[in-house]
Amino acid sequence: MIGAHARPDGMVDRIRQVSRRSATLGLVPSSAVSLAMGEPGANTADRVVDAAIASLRAGRTHYAPMAGSSALREALAASLRTPQRPVGLHEVAVTHGGSAGLAATIFSLVGPGDRVVLPEPTYSLYADQVAAAGGEVVWSVNRPDGGPDLDALAELLPIARLVILCNPGNPTGYVLTQAELGAVLELAQRHGTYVLCDEAYRDIVYDGRFCSSLDLPECGSVICCGTFSKTHAMTGWRVGWLVAPREIADRIRLMHQTFNGPLNTFIQDAALMALQSADDERDEMLASYRARRDQVVEALTQVERVSLQPPQGAFYAFPKVELPLRSEDLAARLAEAGVLVRAGSEFGPSGEGHIRISYAAGSDDVAEGLRRFARTIAHLVDELGQHETVEPV
Ligand SMILES: Cc1ncc(COP(=O)(O)O)c(C=O)c1O
Repeated sequence: MIGAHARPDGMVDRIRQVSRRSATLGLVPSSAVSLAMGEPGANTADRVVDAAIASLRAGRTHYAPMAGSSALREALAASLRTPQRPVGLHEVAVTHGGSAGLAATIFSLVGPGDRVVLPEPTYSLYADQVAAAGGEVVWSVNRPDGGPDLDALAELLPIARLVILCNPGNPTGYVLTQAELGAVLELAQRHGTYVLCDEAYRDIVYDGRFCSSLDLPECGSVICCGTFSKTHAMTGWRVGWLVAPREIADRIRLMHQTFNGPLNTFIQDAALMALQSADDERDEMLASYRARRDQVVEALTQVERVSLQPPQGAFYAFPKVELPLRSEDLAARLAEAGVLVRAGSEFGPSGEGHIRISYAAGSDDVAEGLRRFARTIAHLVDELGQHETVEPV
């Protein structure tokens, strides 16, 4: 029964209708190992924590400027600008984590009935936010190797208001080549479609150099969005950023300040310190994720009925599991066996039959989680192996 205050056509109901995100995200029973969250195992660096404490002690406990601290925006502009894309102060916005940057962008560009193309499988928050804004999600199935289907995009972009690229990809770890990214931006420019490039994992790329949307010449309708959460192990601090041409950045900032107000003052001070992290700290982080990527690929290739495209970036593996179980049921069986993962169907229709394993956790947890995963799949193969597998819908 619908309660007296329910609005079946309201924003909450629209989100509920499309959302595949679990209501219990982040909860981990004490006996379970979680490979479910994009949560770095390492704590935030002491330098950054000390900067936050010093800021608070210095009385930086008041409202920050609505647009974000200019010191932090200056530092972001300096660290993000490239020869192809000179980023100015007014093109940078500071946001409550990557999530609020995505939301402010989507709400400032998408209205009722607008189509938003999501190459999938992809990060599940986009579809929820598009639905909240009243837009219509149009899925575009990626190639089996995780790359974008450019022919499909060429058909869809002319009818779309916005396309959202997750690069490096969550959940597949696919990293767009310069040619692929350039092709999508060129298509979008030709048809007047906005492009939101979510580069939350831009600093976690294993093989070769990452080509950011900021490495390509400005074409007037590209928004590049990022976060301190993953690069700096700052998930709990809630600080992100975006870069957009000034007129779009102004609209996004207005939306952000209407929903969120200004960002926490001392957290912006700490984020400024994080930006000054030395190259060797980043190299160390990358080396440890690379070692875990190799550990996961090695372990999964030995499990019967499991196949995997090795991730090129981010810290997720997205194996296909050939068993007669929906991915939600498989994730539930794995949870019963003490390892938490995410159902592939959360990330789009073609994610059915897959699960997402995060290897951001510490390497002991990853090793134990993989052992439980392999053991459970072996049991399930014995129990169900003769039945037909579930294909994507
Ligand atoms: C692709 C992608 N974008 C954005 C976010 C959101 O990041 P934040 O924690 O900064 O809100 C995540 C978090 O997992 C993500 O995977």
